[in-house]
Formats: sequence, C-alpha cells, structure tokens
Amino acid sequence: MSPPTKINASQPVNSFEEICEEIDTLLLSRYPPKTVDEDSSSISSLPSSPSSTPSDSTSSFRDYTSPITPMRVMKFYQEQHEKQTVSSVIEKRKQFSSLNCAKMSVWDALELLNTLVDNSDPDTELSQIEHCLQTSEALRKDGQPRWLILTGLIHDLGKLLYFYGAEGQWDVVGDTFPVGCAFSQSIIFPEFFKNNPDYSNPKYNTLYGIYEPNCGLDNVLMSYGHDEYMYQVVKDYLPVEACYIVRYHSFYAQHRENAYCHLMNDYDHEMMKWVKIFNPFDLYSKADQPPNIHELKSYYIELINEFFPEEICW
Ligand SMILES: [Fe+2]
Ligand SMILES: [Fe+2]
Repeated sequence: MSPPTKINASQPVNSFEEICEEIDTLLLSRYPPKTVDEDSSSISSLPSSPSSTPSDSTSSFRDYTSPITPMRVMKFYQEQHEKQTVSSVIEKRKQFSSLNCAKMSVWDALELLNTLVDNSDPDTELSQIEHCLQTSEALRKDGQPRWLILTGLIHDLGKLLYFYGAEGQWDVVGDTFPVGCAFSQSIIFPEFFKNNPDYSNPKYNTLYGIYEPNCGLDNVLMSYGHDEYMYQVVKDYLPVEACYIVRYHSFYAQHRENAYCHLMNDYDHEMMKWVKIFNPFDLYSKADQPPNIHELKSYYIELINEFFPEEICW
C-alpha cells in the first residue's frame, strides 16, 4: 500500500464517530423499519425485491424512537444547512475530484478508515468497517448480486474525506440535497436553511432555480459529502447502478420523500429504484450480529479484485 498522503491527524476523531452515530440514530427515528407487509407493497415495483429486508429482525433492535434530538446533531445540521451553497459545492468538487489524496487498495481504505475512526469511544457500538461489512453481509444473505454486495462494502468509504482535507463534518456526512434551487421542506430541519446565503438569492430560491425541469440529477449540484466523493472514486470501476447508489444513498429527501421528482429524468427514476432497495440494508443492518472481519476478509478481497485493480486513486 502506498502511504496515504494528506491525512490530517488533528481532526477530532471521537466527535466524528459520534456525529456519524447520532445521524444514523436520527435517521432511524425518522424512518423506522417498516413491517414486512408495508415493505412488500412499497417494493413490489422494484427491479429485484429483497426477499427479506434487514428490517425483519426488528425485535433485536435498540430503541431509536426517542423524540429527543441531541444538541450536537442539531448543531451539525444547522452548520451543514448554512454552509452547503452553490459556490461551496463547486469549490469542493474542484478540490476533491482530482483524486490526488492517496493511492491504495479498497481493502486498505477500509482498514484505514477503521484505524482513523476507531473504537476509542466506548459508546460507539460499531466501527466503520463493521457497518460496511454488516451492510454487505445483509445483502449477501439476501441473495443480492455480487456488485450490490460490493456496493454495501464500499458505500461509506468516502468518509475518508474527513481526513483528506474536509473543512469539518458538514462537508462529509449527513443527508444530501440539491443546491441551486429551493430547499425542500422534506429535508431534515428545513428551518436551518434560513441562514444559508442561497436561501434569499432569487437565482437559487425558486422551485427549479438554475435547473431545467427534469434535467436529470447528473446535471444537479448536490450538497457535498462522502457520497459525491466516493462516486468519483468508483465511477470507472463499478456498474452504473452501483455508482448511482453510492452517489445518492444519503439523498433521503428523494429516496424516502420523493421531493425532487421535478429535477429527475427517466434514467434517474430507473436508477433510484436501486437506491431504495439498498437503503434498508444500510439503515437497518445495525441490528444484526457484529461481523467477524477475519473470517470474511478472504471472501471480500476476492470480490474487490473482481471489480477493482490492486490500487485506485483517492
Ligand atoms: Fe453513507
Ligand atoms: Fe452507511
């Protein structure tokens, strides 16, 4: 493995891990697992419906329904909603799309993220690598295709961005949403957009803003984070469906709330079905048993080698 460059070791690791946990908890209280019956009606039109989603095992689930949102996560969303603007997104895309932060294998990236965001916080139930493996193992147990299992494994690796020069947490994690047009009320904490400079800019605050109706999400600037960064990392290696999942897996305002259909084209509607299939495996697989990394490593190294060269650019 080439030594990863540009790692900023002074980034506060514990608070990053904590905010990741708290965002997940908030998402789980906002989107609790559906019953099997509810699920079967909503996924019947999907290209390949999971036979059982991880939400089936709700009995072993911790209680995520607390109405109290920790102050830290409120502050996080406040900052994210204020700072994600057209100009900041363009700047971030320019900064990170050249992929000159590191050259390493996908497995090494998993281990690196795990080392950087370790289990030093006793309240953290799962490490990053465990979340990745739980997502991929849930997909594997469900009989999903190999490319989708691999997508589960790598979908959050863009969080390395936090150590590769991100300004804070607001440009790495959290739900994503389009900038350059009106912020939907379906986005979590919509009231926090009031202090975003784009909110009062007439160029950006109409339904379509700078976009044409049904222009396609590929032409839309999404708030910057680990989704867009990881999409840039994998787009030359994985099937288009996998790349689409990676790019939009945090776009809850669409894949859960359907708030941006007016910007989507036919291609997006087809592809978004895969994000909807993927999301329960990402969100609800935390209820499953912690994976045994050593036992699983050889299976995943083989799977990674099926799609990726030895080293890729980050
Ligand atoms: Fe994610
Ligand atoms: Fe995830």
